[in-house]
Amino acid sequence: MNFKSLINVGLIATTLLGVGCTSSANNRGYSKDAEINTKVEMLLSKMTLEEKVGQMNQYNGFYDATGPAPSDGDAKNKYEHLRNGWVGSMLNVRGAKEVRAMQKMAVEESRLGIPMIFGLDVIHGHKTLAPISLGESASWDLEAIKKSAQVAATEAAAEGINWTFAPMVDISRDARWGRVMEGAGEDTYLGSKIGVARIQGFQGDDLSANNTIAACAKHFAGYGFAEAGRDYNTVDVGTSTLYNVIFPPFQAALDADVKTVMNSFNILNGVPATGNKWLQRDLLKGKWGFNGFVISDWGSCMEMMAHGFAADLKEAAELAANAGSDMDMESYAYVKHLSTLVKEGKVNEADIDDAVRRILTVKYELGLFDDPYKYCDEQREQELIYHEDHKAAVLDMALKSVVLLKNDKQVLPLDKSQKKIAVIGALANDKTSPLGSWRVASDDNTAVSVLEGLKNHNIKYTYAKGADVSVGDVGFQIPVTINNTDKSEFAEAIALARKSEVVVMVLGEHGYQSGEGRSRTNIGLPGVQQELLEEVYKVNQNIVLVLMNGRPLALPWADAHIPAILETWQLGTESGNAIAKTLFGDNNPSGKLPMTFPRNVAQCPIYYNHYNTGRPTGGNGVFWSHYIDESNDPLYPFGFGLSYTSFEYSNLKAKVDGDVVKVSITVKNTGKVAGQEVAQLYIHDKAASVARPIKELKGFEKFELAPNDSKLVEFELTSKELGFYNNEGEFVVEAGDFDIMVGTDSQNVSITSVTL
Ligand code: BGC
Repeated sequence: MNFKSLINVGLIATTLLGVGCTSSANNRGYSKDAEINTKVEMLLSKMTLEEKVGQMNQYNGFYDATGPAPSDGDAKNKYEHLRNGWVGSMLNVRGAKEVRAMQKMAVEESRLGIPMIFGLDVIHGHKTLAPISLGESASWDLEAIKKSAQVAATEAAAEGINWTFAPMVDISRDARWGRVMEGAGEDTYLGSKIGVARIQGFQGDDLSANNTIAACAKHFAGYGFAEAGRDYNTVDVGTSTLYNVIFPPFQAALDADVKTVMNSFNILNGVPATGNKWLQRDLLKGKWGFNGFVISDWGSCMEMMAHGFAADLKEAAELAANAGSDMDMESYAYVKHLSTLVKEGKVNEADIDDAVRRILTVKYELGLFDDPYKYCDEQREQELIYHEDHKAAVLDMALKSVVLLKNDKQVLPLDKSQKKIAVIGALANDKTSPLGSWRVASDDNTAVSVLEGLKNHNIKYTYAKGADVSVGDVGFQIPVTINNTDKSEFAEAIALARKSEVVVMVLGEHGYQSGEGRSRTNIGLPGVQQELLEEVYKVNQNIVLVLMNGRPLALPWADAHIPAILETWQLGTESGNAIAKTLFGDNNPSGKLPMTFPRNVAQCPIYYNHYNTGRPTGGNGVFWSHYIDESNDPLYPFGFGLSYTSFEYSNLKAKVDGDVVKVSITVKNTGKVAGQEVAQLYIHDKAASVARPIKELKGFEKFELAPNDSKLVEFELTSKELGFYNNEGEFVVEAGDFDIMVGTDSQNVSITSVTL
């Protein structure tokens, strides 16, 4: 969203079973509620063509609605459009008072008084922030994730918002892409479950309640496969990846009744998503029966010109509308050209009606026609923002999101009575960076820093910064400048480390180094931090490395030398408290990586569920699928995460029982403390009409075990898990041999097999 101005608070501030896994809501009306359908039809019949097009137009917040009206320029134009009823939605307007003032114009000044729907990127919290989405995903805890989305919805709804542009359900296998922080990682199965949990959390059981908001599955489709991890770049993927990897989370979102879908900036096999009729009209709305509405991405309609797909803005409007893109975010394409295009017969009015029906239906479902101001209660806003219950929920989420990557000689947990604890690293004293990226509404300086967290838990320590991570101002719209030179404070940190028993080093990325437009080609520790780590190591090897980052990092040196490594992502508002609790054993880490950590950035895209190739092995030979200067193995595999206790897996069994495969395994806590484990089930269809990945996650269960306790974990694989999409886009389940694997991560598994 390069040209967007975010205005702050107050200111607009061979089919065996023939089972398909698609949604099939095709025969439904737009709403399940007949009364709503009738109301929509009645309203539609009263609307002029221009008013209809207006509903399909979304503007960014452009002035402070509680102040004087804009008198010139673009703002004046938008203001007039608003009063004419030519704006169906706004984004980035928030605050109960502000939203009320804007809504009042639409409701009281426009001819038909149709309320607007107010959208915002409520990604991992609103004011009270949970861990970044990738971090939350490491919890594999669907209930906690749902709760986190509920908290976000409650706060956003209290600030007048009724629609979030989340969850991002793009699968991505490339750590270079900055937006991996916003999704659920590399796996389709896990990503689908997490997407659904988020949608349920945002939308709740009753969309018309004043603490629930409409969700938006984005970005349809393929955005996570930008070539070389460079944001907005070309996407060129084959049918198998499209159907088996990219589409399923969207299909799951539809099954969860997601109200809106956002298309994407990228071209997909040559056609921009926004102008892609096959994607939006044929597949999404046609075959899959999606009844909600499609919003374009920011300016994506206009960007079809730069893509070389539309000659001018008018043609862009024509292509997007005909392709089924229902609402235009900030391209001005629809509002300027759509009415003319209909009059010229280039766009059917029936398609306009279809789009408007979808939009109005969601507005009815949100209850906006009953009370357009239901989300605009300033007292509720005051009561709910930063509510203690919300802090408790995001702390719980943060505790569950931490991943223990290494713990040689059980360095962790640390002993509270230890005398000489050194804390080093600028991020330890940072109250903004741990909030992460994509936090449109939150306030800087509101995270509990690591130092504060330690104090809150009565831990005595001595701190030395060592080096800054960034230089100058940081912000959502400001490129982060990394400190690549200033090592002036190294000496103090090294001296402190020398005289300490243990050194906690808090290193990593700045929160704004990931997110939109933040692709990286070097995914090591930014700036001088790697050097700082190595210098400190020379004087004290008893180091606990606390990582903060918005994407997988490649840290082979740290893995080879540092005894304990804790992945904390960017944990949000309660960061420091969650980290202190984990370092000192009040929290036993249970997170598992939702994305592979490479050894070397050049391995990207790297992911566990790859194909075998024709030459998977070759030892010391030459002609096999490998690098001559780096192993094929990741640094940490998908699903990986240690605990302060240990788990033993035994007695894996799998048998075909009618239409299903029943799998069981015993897991025992063989350590000294209670802990949570995520048992993961993978399958491998060994020979199929289309080659299948060497492993695919098809089930998981998270549970807690006391020391010495065991649990029989049981899974059932149905046709849904055993089948796949062939290259005709048909879902098939094929007979043959399957490996069944269960274990603690994607590499460390027990294996058996069944024949279907
Ligand atoms: C992003 C979307 C986001 C939109 C609105 C775009 O730049 O790609 O994900 O929802 O802006 O802020």
